[in-house]
Amino acid sequence: MSMNNPAYIFTFFLLIVVLPIYLLLITTRKTNYKKLPPGSWGLPFLGQSLSIVHAMRTNTAERWLQERVRKYGPVSKFNFLGTPTVFLHGQAANKLIYTNGGDTFANQQPNSVRRIMGERNIMELSGNEHKRVRGGLVSFLKPEVLKLYVGKMDEEVRKHLEMHWHGKEQVQVMPLMKTLTFNIMNSLIIGIEQGARRDTLVELFQHIIDGLLSIPVNLPFTRFNRSLRASAKVRATLRELIREKREAMKQHSADAANQDLISCLLTIRNEDNSILLSDEELIDNAIVIMVAGHDTSSVLITFIIRLLANDPSVYATVLQEQEEIAKSKAPGELLTWEDLAKMKYTWRVAIEILRMTPPVFCSFRTVLRDFEYEGYIIPKGWQVMWAACMTQMDEKIFPDPSKFDATRFEKQAPSPPPPFSFVAFGGGSRMCPGNEFARIETLVTIHYLVTKFTWKLSCRDNSFFRDPMPVFKHGLPIQIKPKKD
Ligand code: HEM
Ligand SMILES: *[C@@H]1O[C@H](CO)[C@@H](O)[C@H](O)[C@H]1NC(C)=O
Repeated sequence: MSMNNPAYIFTFFLLIVVLPIYLLLITTRKTNYKKLPPGSWGLPFLGQSLSIVHAMRTNTAERWLQERVRKYGPVSKFNFLGTPTVFLHGQAANKLIYTNGGDTFANQQPNSVRRIMGERNIMELSGNEHKRVRGGLVSFLKPEVLKLYVGKMDEEVRKHLEMHWHGKEQVQVMPLMKTLTFNIMNSLIIGIEQGARRDTLVELFQHIIDGLLSIPVNLPFTRFNRSLRASAKVRATLRELIREKREAMKQHSADAANQDLISCLLTIRNEDNSILLSDEELIDNAIVIMVAGHDTSSVLITFIIRLLANDPSVYATVLQEQEEIAKSKAPGELLTWEDLAKMKYTWRVAIEILRMTPPVFCSFRTVLRDFEYEGYIIPKGWQVMWAACMTQMDEKIFPDPSKFDATRFEKQAPSPPPPFSFVAFGGGSRMCPGNEFARIETLVTIHYLVTKFTWKLSCRDNSFFRDPMPVFKHGLPIQIKPKKD
């Protein structure tokens, strides 16, 4: 996005003119008897937004926020992209936000996100509406159901390695892991098999994702416009797909229908035989899951691959665990739920990675009513920003936090982390419902990688920055060698 883009200038102008008036209004409103949190609004108006975005890009956001906490304490105000924002920090703040029933905080996403992802997507809903839609999604994403799909994930992973790894000497991990997790989603969430239609969808989803982080000006040739157009096309494809699946279900037994999230939800009824989710709800939420699910797990798997290249002792232990399982299988036999249960050490490594480098760094909520916290008043209409995962690097909770130590999460470890301190998957009623899905795809992928290949990092500099998802220089290239069977 270039600075002389008209959309950019327009937005800048709006912020300069409208924002000061707005801030003045909101800060003078009936707050004379209670204190607003400390912190300055920052000058010029975009000052702090730019400095935190800069901190993310140089991977110093944790430090930037820690600096704030040192200066102002765990509650402070600032201006983020034109909205008065309160930054909350610490385990108590995590608990406050995760356990609040939805009358104090709304999960509202920025306007652009809502227009692209649809009004009925789960991130927009609260209260009973949220419960109903979430219940629908969880009826497919729960372990008892997902365990039936381990074999399907296994097939996707093997197909991926066959196509993109075998016969190569060097690969770029990050883009390949995005392809892989996206394809797993295609197969298990919307049930589109490999072929031309899937390829078109990959491209359309890329446009959708590009637009989520763009300035929402709907003019031809803006990213936002392209994203909206892509979203409309994906919707049309999904509508067509739903029609086909209904047709197929009429002809085959109900059992054949349960092959992906969409088919599964088409068969679920309420007790009074009414449908659980409308077609439009199904479509909005399938899109959200496709986006929320693949960008996060691909990051986790990429960090694991980097760690295994850098840490010979963790690598040796993971390899031993996985080879043990490989030895017990006939050639070509698919992994099962029981096999995954044996991958205990590998999953602890993944959890420790999620502690140190969580894919989701910070989140936002909108304040629905004035509330008091730590002696400060937080007014309605403000936005809450909190970096839940900062508790994961708190030395009082996780001693020696910068040290990778997979034994932290062992059952017999000195003391399990207290509630709301390990929050890579969030917490409370909005906790990530895809965590089991992520566990399965991660373990299956690592199983085949360590038993079929060895690798080393091609670049000395394997650091990353956030945009806002972690990005590696050149996509983290590695040199790979197939193992002899
Ligand atoms: C390592 C992988 C993943 C991580 C670290 C992760 C992290 C998160 C976090 C932190 C939240 C809560 C955000 C908030 O409170 O504002 C969340 C929500 C969500 N995640 Fe995940 N996620 C992952 C994988 C997945 C997968 C694979 C799926 C789908 C199959 C998924 C679907 C969702 C959905 C639908 C929500 C919204 C839940 C709600 O609002 O009730 N995620 N995720
Ligand atoms: C994209 O821009 C064109 C031209 O302004 C407009 O006609 C069209 O409706 C926009 N697309 C969407 C999906 O909003």
